[in-house]
Amino acid sequence: VKHALRRAVCTAALALPLAAIAAEEGGGPKPEDFVHYRQGVMTAIGWNFGPMAAMVKKEMPYDAAEFARRAERVAFLATLPMEGFVPQTKGIESHAKDAVWDNLDDFESRMKDLETNTAALASAAKGASDLGAVVPAFAKVGETCKGCHDEYEQD
Ligand code: HEC
Repeated sequence: VKHALRRAVCTAALALPLAAIAAEEGGGPKPEDFVHYRQGVMTAIGWNFGPMAAMVKKEMPYDAAEFARRAERVAFLATLPMEGFVPQTKGIESHAKDAVWDNLDDFESRMKDLETNTAALASAAKGASDLGAVVPAFAKVGETCKGCHDEYEQD
């Protein structure tokens, strides 16, 4: 009896979260979930980019190790948001303009540029001892953010 009981409890413990996850997932992510995902990633990119920008603008002292750590994070994060920019989110309230869905190839190529330019920034930042060594690569990333926001982001 003891064994059977223990087995029943363990089985229930295993089954419960799986059932809950399955119910939650339903038939996969909903359009709103894609929007939340991409906004979350963009927020994380902005969170890490902010202190780097402050160092470049000399509003904060340059800390080479911190700059490099954040550059590394941004380079990784840049590989993530495209997964959330799917056409079934058209019409869901967000800060993405409808132009995204009319020019998805251009949008995706800008996202690729972000990956390339943030990777270049991360390698420039690795082992850099002065701000001068990271500024050109940083500026290129900043232009990539701004270029895409000008075309495709709205308030
Ligand atoms: C290829 C286009 C593209 C690039 C490149 C890009 N963004 Fe964005 N970003 C967007 C779009 C579109 C949104 C609006 C997303 C939404 O609301 O669904 C956004 C939103 C944001 C937001 C607000 C998040 C929110 O919840 O609305 C921040 C912060 C942000 N981006 C920072 C950055 C930074 C920093 C960079 C450069 C390191 C960058 N982005 C590069 C397209 C881009």
